[in-house]
Amino acid sequence: MKYIKILPFLLLGQVHAQPKLNVDQALTYCVDQAAKISATLPTTAPNLPRNILNGKTQWKYIDYKDWTSGFWPGTLWYVYEYTKDPKWRAKADSFSRELTPLAYSKAIDHDLGFQMYCSFGNGLRLTGNPDYKKILLATADTLATLFNPKVGTILSWPRPVPNMEWPQHNTIMDNMINLELLFWASKNGGSKKLYDIAVSHATTTMNNHFRPDYTSYHVVVYDKETGKKIKGVTHQGYADNSMWARGQSWAIYGYTMTYRETKDPKFLEFAQKVSDVYLERLPHDLIPYWDFSAPGVDSPDRPNAPKDASAAAVTASALLELSTFVLDKTKAQMYRTKAEQMLATLSSAAYQSRSVNDAFLLHSTGHKPNNSEVDASINYADYYYIEALLRAKKLREEKGILSKL
Ligand code: GLY
Repeated sequence: MKYIKILPFLLLGQVHAQPKLNVDQALTYCVDQAAKISATLPTTAPNLPRNILNGKTQWKYIDYKDWTSGFWPGTLWYVYEYTKDPKWRAKADSFSRELTPLAYSKAIDHDLGFQMYCSFGNGLRLTGNPDYKKILLATADTLATLFNPKVGTILSWPRPVPNMEWPQHNTIMDNMINLELLFWASKNGGSKKLYDIAVSHATTTMNNHFRPDYTSYHVVVYDKETGKKIKGVTHQGYADNSMWARGQSWAIYGYTMTYRETKDPKFLEFAQKVSDVYLERLPHDLIPYWDFSAPGVDSPDRPNAPKDASAAAVTASALLELSTFVLDKTKAQMYRTKAEQMLATLSSAAYQSRSVNDAFLLHSTGHKPNNSEVDASINYADYYYIEALLRAKKLREEKGILSKL
């Protein structure tokens, strides 16, 4: 009788039990997978791994122009950071250099920050190579050409995109990540105007991209002459008013980084608001569905909506950093614990690729409305996963998360 009474609680405990994070085991796994990827890469472009679609084992390769081109070189820099093996440094250098033309060509997209800061930015942090610094400073100036002072943000897509009312001005939430390059450049020999552009972009986005509950629109379209907001819409999410998981994770990461760079408390407060609404609405395993409002996601039986492991990896990395800024010790610890739990789940058999394919992770969703990269392995999930693991390791060792070798 006694057993019958406690059994449901034991079972409940099992269902919600969180796996523990073994950070070195997970990092070693990443190094082993990276070695497998490396062994099968083409010798000429396109040779940057982007995705492995569900049911396949072969990478799709892209060249330096693709928005995700910085993630493989960036991943290699993180592998070098963990192993300190010069073999990985040489690979990271070589793949980063493939992206060099982006610094000196006309900006065709806002993604330059993603591309160049994940690759050369990490390279500079770990090696101090002056070539990388020159390339990054030139890229920051190139990115700044997309800034519209009447609107106060950087244009994301300088071309017609359905529903964006071209030639009006569009800005997507993802663009917050590109600000890191501008902040860095303004403090390392670039124009001070780059700092002002980054702050203006973060502030204007804070004022226009969020609903009263702090969930974000993926895209805001502005009148390019008056700067007035025309509309908030989605591009990769379920609906204009829904919380697209990766969009919100870019917001969490972007405002945490903006606080680091500005030390303006309004950004720290905002980073917590956009994190809290995301955390409150997560499923029990802390890995979001691709959109928090996708059909059936709120129903108790949780149907087979695709997950987005990439959003979880981005968020875990950001929350680890946020936990170092929040003064309320209980709240800071909550962010850190949640991030470690996310990483523990991502490191389980349910999410690691292991023998399924050579990527680090399964179950990311790129662009569900286009039916592209649904429940797939994607390079940015791997990049933010290894970044977050390194951050978790450094925090355990009481080192700064951006520390050098
Ligand atoms: N920046 C594009 C995406 O997150 O899919």
